[in-house]
Amino acid sequence: MASLHLPSLTTPKTANSMHSLSPSSHTIFPKPSHFLLHAKRSNRLQVSCADDQNHKEPSQNVDRRNMLLGLGGIYGASNLVSIPGASANPIKPPELDKCGVATNLNTGQQLDINCCPPISQNIIDYRLPPVHRMKTRPSAHKVSPEYIFKYNMAIDRMKRLPKDDPRSFMQQANIHCAYCNGAYDQPGQGTLDLQVHNSWLFFPFHRWYLYFYERILGKLIGDPTFALPFWNWDNPKGMTIPPMFVDPKSALYDEKRNPASMPPAVVDLGLTGSTDSLQVVTNNLTVMYSEMIRANSDVFDFMGKPYREGTAVNPGPGSSERGSHTAVHVWVGDPRQPSGEDLGNFYSAGRDPLFYCHHGNVDRMWSLWQYFLPSNKIPDKRITDPDFLNASFLFYDENAQLVRVSVKDCVDNLRMGYDYDRIDLPWLDYRPPPQTAGARVTRTGTSAAKADTVFPLTLDKIVRVLVPKTKKGKADELLVIENITVDTTKFLKFDVFVNDEDDNVVELDKAAYAGTYAQVPHKTANKSATTSIRLKLTDLYDDMDVADDDTVLVTLVPRHQGPGVTIGGIKIIENPKPATQPSG
Ligand code: C2O
Repeated sequence: MASLHLPSLTTPKTANSMHSLSPSSHTIFPKPSHFLLHAKRSNRLQVSCADDQNHKEPSQNVDRRNMLLGLGGIYGASNLVSIPGASANPIKPPELDKCGVATNLNTGQQLDINCCPPISQNIIDYRLPPVHRMKTRPSAHKVSPEYIFKYNMAIDRMKRLPKDDPRSFMQQANIHCAYCNGAYDQPGQGTLDLQVHNSWLFFPFHRWYLYFYERILGKLIGDPTFALPFWNWDNPKGMTIPPMFVDPKSALYDEKRNPASMPPAVVDLGLTGSTDSLQVVTNNLTVMYSEMIRANSDVFDFMGKPYREGTAVNPGPGSSERGSHTAVHVWVGDPRQPSGEDLGNFYSAGRDPLFYCHHGNVDRMWSLWQYFLPSNKIPDKRITDPDFLNASFLFYDENAQLVRVSVKDCVDNLRMGYDYDRIDLPWLDYRPPPQTAGARVTRTGTSAAKADTVFPLTLDKIVRVLVPKTKKGKADELLVIENITVDTTKFLKFDVFVNDEDDNVVELDKAAYAGTYAQVPHKTANKSATTSIRLKLTDLYDDMDVADDDTVLVTLVPRHQGPGVTIGGIKIIENPKPATQPSG
């Protein structure tokens, strides 16, 4: 990879400009002494009981580790090292001096832009500052004129910072480009890309990204209490682009957006293209209910699959990432641009101020999952795997200091000093209406092929296949869609229906809707990635007449044009409950 160097932060010019921004502030960083973020595994923390060491049952294993680490207080834990039984290592932060040129997503050519941040040798392990006053991130549709004024001023100042200041608007946008478009390799892993999407790093990376973005904005207007707004697209009252972003005179405006998505257009979280606003709102609430509750059988189904040192990109996106998150990117991105810029492509997404407002709501979903969704409706709330907790990233903080942060310090937004304004969750009980007798016609009357005869296939039109169940009727089962091989540079989406009785593909608010796969275009080393998803069918069966069926009809409905995704296979498996977390 070509390596591009920008002036170091230690040059007097940059140091002066930093200083002039904050004449009176003086941040004291704690010593990084006992943060051992990348310690290799060893056997220093052995479990003394021989029986325990041979115990292979993963959930027990996790409990045991929690005890060792004092996981009850893991946020304060400082020595997360030497986990017995773990077989891999967490993702390490990128080496900034090896940052390469990002690549054009459609052509595979190198981009003209350089996404690489300024280089600094002075990296500090970040310590969360004590929380004196909780910030409340407001709903973007409900903010006051004073708030909008301040927010505008902050973004405007960010845009006026010197280009090489890591806090400047473009440098901030480029953070996303660099972490998402193959500019970094995993340290020590050859040319294996470092990628923060389509895995369990999705929520933590973006949480830290917004955290520093917010602190930089606060610093630029001398208001450390400044809190980013969130776009409340999961509530009918927030399903249009928030007004403050569409005023062309505002610093929050971006001209590279789809004109058809300007207010009063209703955001289409299902990307069905329906032109009936009421149908779109109904679909949206169904999508939210599905991705937050109905389709998840364990915490990884929601958060994304494990991604450790040496893992290839795209191990598997969580339900929220591939659902509402992707849809909003693609819905706002400008189809007149070559690659859906700005929001519709990862390399350019951070150039639209709306990105950070969108991701405020994405981050809120993680917070809701942990603190507000009823435990009886969702599986585990937290990932306890040390390779998750010890994964780390680099960011420049509000003082332009390069800091290393780790996932374990961001798993609790309250500890990071911010919370979200409380807004109703109209999707929380948005279970689709039951579907009865008619659905069975599809089973007997269909000419669909059997699943074991049609795969692999390129999904460029609607496909219907018969898939055998593990048991007759209302069993506790998961639908697994395997070896989904995608062209990462394209927008791709398909919806999955089970025993759908009609072909009205713009309606998602029905029992037959099982879930979604979708991706925002981005670059990976070889333009292709293979992944899989699981969709829980247990609740779906409850809402359908599958009394003594031993086969279901699965319909895959692509929402993109043309080829780009190949499906390797579909099967139904028993839900492997109780949900267990990998033991590393
Ligand atoms: Cu890093 Cu919404 O993308």
